[in-house]
Amino acid sequence: MLSGVSISAVRRVMDESLFSDPGLLYATRDMSGNRRAEFMAGRICAARSLRKMGVVAAFPLPGRNRQPVWPTGVLGSISHCSTTAVAVATAQSRYCALGVDVEPLIGPAIAQQIQRSICRDEELIGLERSVPGRKLALTLLFSAKEALFKALFPQVGGFKDFYAAEFFACEARSLVLRLTQDWNSQWLAGKKVKVRYAWRGEDVFSAVYLSRTGN
Ligand SMILES: CC(C)(COP(=O)(O)OP(=O)(O)OC[C@H]1O[C@@H](n2cnc3c(N)ncnc32)[C@H](O)[C@@H]1OP(=O)(O)O)[C@@H](O)C(=O)NCCC(=O)NCCS
Repeated sequence: MLSGVSISAVRRVMDESLFSDPGLLYATRDMSGNRRAEFMAGRICAARSLRKMGVVAAFPLPGRNRQPVWPTGVLGSISHCSTTAVAVATAQSRYCALGVDVEPLIGPAIAQQIQRSICRDEELIGLERSVPGRKLALTLLFSAKEALFKALFPQVGGFKDFYAAEFFACEARSLVLRLTQDWNSQWLAGKKVKVRYAWRGEDVFSAVYLSRTGN
């Protein structure tokens, strides 16, 4: 079963007492105030997700590639923006991949700047058949690709740019991405992955969760 937690209003959670955790203090020693607030909010969500699973553990610390290091047997993922943090966790015995992302609606100026690094025009045109408007489509596609990257990173172990997967199809409250290259010996070009999504106000939440039974 998935255990998911999100927190709104990142700055309010700054009052919580996790600031005495030595590992987190060390991990955040060089972070700016805003960055630290988001990081801590993500860790609070992570701890709550773990607790919901019945796992009592230290906060997941960042690994060498910035990925959160979860307790043995747990898969998890964290995302945050200036107002919201979210984390999900589950048992590795039941799921083989888990990734989450929250993304505020991308404004037109930024959309223009980053579009080319996120996707081909054809992908957006395809997505716009189901998601109205360039801003919504780009924000969703960006978020979906980041959720995919986070979900596969523990198995792939390396960086993949945004052209390593492409929009393939839209389904109810989900879209399907297709890998455009081999990510490793198991995640080969052509493989399709469903990304669930939901809008809350102007934020989109995307999640990839792949159960071992294929459901
Ligand atoms: C790593 C990345 C996905 C994070 O996304 P972001 O929009 O910057 O930030 P988010 O708030 O959504 O997520 C940040 C959290 O992701 C997690 N994260 C970072 N690197 C990660 C990795 N390699 N694997 C899994 N999770 C990772 C961390 O928990 C991080 O929060 P923290 O630094 O406070 O611990 C992004 O910075 C990146 O490098 N993207 C390029 C790779 C990519 O997405 N390719 C698309 C392939 S189709």
